[in-house]
Amino acid sequence: MNNDSFWNFYWETRLQHLQGQGKGEVILQSSRLIRAANQPIRILEAGCGEAQIIGSLVDAHGSPEGEQASVGIDRDLTALAVARKTYPSIRFLTGDFTDTELLQSLGKFDLLLLVNALHHVFSDAYDPSIGEIDVPKGKANLHTSFATLAQSVKPGGYVILFDGLEADIPLDTPVQIQFQSPEAQGKFQTFAREYLPFRIQYQLNTGDSVTLSMRNFTRYVTKIIFLGKPLWKRERQESYQYFNESEMHTMLTRNGFDIQEFRLLSVDYDHWLQEVRILTPGVDFPPEHVLITAQKTG
Ligand SMILES: C[S@@+](CC[C@H](N)C(=O)[O-])C[C@H]1O[C@@H](n2cnc3c(N)ncnc32)[C@H](O)[C@@H]1O
Repeated sequence: MNNDSFWNFYWETRLQHLQGQGKGEVILQSSRLIRAANQPIRILEAGCGEAQIIGSLVDAHGSPEGEQASVGIDRDLTALAVARKTYPSIRFLTGDFTDTELLQSLGKFDLLLLVNALHHVFSDAYDPSIGEIDVPKGKANLHTSFATLAQSVKPGGYVILFDGLEADIPLDTPVQIQFQSPEAQGKFQTFAREYLPFRIQYQLNTGDSVTLSMRNFTRYVTKIIFLGKPLWKRERQESYQYFNESEMHTMLTRNGFDIQEFRLLSVDYDHWLQEVRILTPGVDFPPEHVLITAQKTG
């Protein structure tokens, strides 16, 4: 069986359930790069969680061994315990993926995976005195962390980044919305009340429409899927968005990466339309996710 037919078999039997999901798209894109290299490559996943992504890739395509083994880093001990048990051939490290010394001790990698990881660096800059993220500090931390992570990629190697994306209009733009049903309105109120420790401000207009900032509108539509689910407890403490398209470009190009693909992905767009209608002319739903593939040139 050649590389491609083995991969197709692996995907169909093991990963088909991820079809259309962000994680699935990341795995497919990474597998394409690995198959093009025609040999196992060394992968670093920063913020690997239970290692579904790096684990599937190493399982299907193998990894160099010994010192050159692929590595997953996470600060969550419970997630890493699952990862270690499921994928014993991968080296998992408990630690902070923004730690320069830790990264330098690992050497260089062919592929860096940052999947739903960098928004944590931004969210970690939450400031209780303002009930919000300290945005300049969060952005500065992102630039520093990414610059350190970028040093771990070999020249000619790749980064695949999947995460939230801010809209390309000023985030304080007022957006007026109308709910499609009383249930949708109830969900919005729950979101605004429970998205703590953030303070979601909005204005209630006549006719039950609501006006809020573009930043909070984006948070509302991208977070409602978690309402009432076990993940909500964690999700409500995070901002999924941090950079818009041009800021993402700057972060990558400044660190010697050539962007090969910048793909906007939306999983919930139809669901949002069932919840809410935008009344403000010229404003649209935000992008939901971005999947970036970039190659290190220098
Ligand atoms: C949303 S999960 C994504 C897990 C995995 N990448 C995936 O997509 O399946 C984010 C993970 O990043 C980890 N994380 C966040 N900030 C971190 C940091 N500074 N150092 C290490 N791990 C971090 C969290 O513990 C969590 O497991």
